[in-house]
Amino acid sequence: MIILSVKTCSGLDDLNLLSSVCCYWSARVFIANMPGLLLGDVFPNFEAETTNGKIKFHDFLGDSWGILFSHPRDYTPVCTTELGRAAKLSHEFSRRNVKMIALSIDSLEDHRGWTKDILAYNNEESGCAFPFPIIADNQRELAVALGMLDPDEKDKDGMPLTARCVFVIGQDKKLKLSLLYPATTGRNFDEILRVVDSLQLTAKNRVATPADWQVSLPIHIKLYSLTVEFAASFRKYYQSNINGSLRDPIDGQLTSSFITSPNT
Ligand code: BEZ
Repeated sequence: MIILSVKTCSGLDDLNLLSSVCCYWSARVFIANMPGLLLGDVFPNFEAETTNGKIKFHDFLGDSWGILFSHPRDYTPVCTTELGRAAKLSHEFSRRNVKMIALSIDSLEDHRGWTKDILAYNNEESGCAFPFPIIADNQRELAVALGMLDPDEKDKDGMPLTARCVFVIGQDKKLKLSLLYPATTGRNFDEILRVVDSLQLTAKNRVATPADWQVSLPIHIKLYSLTVEFAASFRKYYQSNINGSLRDPIDGQLTSSFITSPNT
């Protein structure tokens, strides 16, 4: 139906729209037959035009971690608050050796104009450089290939907008985390930093972090054993629920050993 209505139009914009529609539907058919990116997959080494020039993704990452996050559209209110917050936290991401890059389905020209508005929203000098690049995916190729579209939110031409997608990529270029929010729900970038802290901790240590963990709290579950602080409350819970034993999440065996040093 969409293609029929486009065929009645004329002009370059309509041709672009038609090519976007074709690209969208052919990619949808392709994607319908694949599970999308899974944790542990090597992230595609795509090429893209960004506000900082053309990049090849793996070269852009170098040996840093990376976060790629998408936005529905430039100049929209929720996206502006999100990019403003991400820009404010950019020093926190670089302190963790995480390179940031955003994506939306608008042009470089739009991105450049919009970053000025975002800096103004953040009360920053208009001459400041925006702290991370934004990919211009105006043909929606990456948004489609990476499963970033939100079918419930459409633009004026009836084309789906980009959802609010987050990919965290490790130094080995593999996907460590993905989050997918609909276009109508803005993300919490403090939570994303918290998650990066957990990913980086658990990449280096055989530990898992519990609910609401923060890096400032010396609480983590070490190989199915517990820190001092955590053990006290958990011992009570597990004693009444599974007779004082914890179940090893890897092999499912019960263990009653609580190792209680936060640093072991
Ligand atoms: C926004 O950024 O304000 C927005 C974008 C798409 C749908 C809803 C809100």
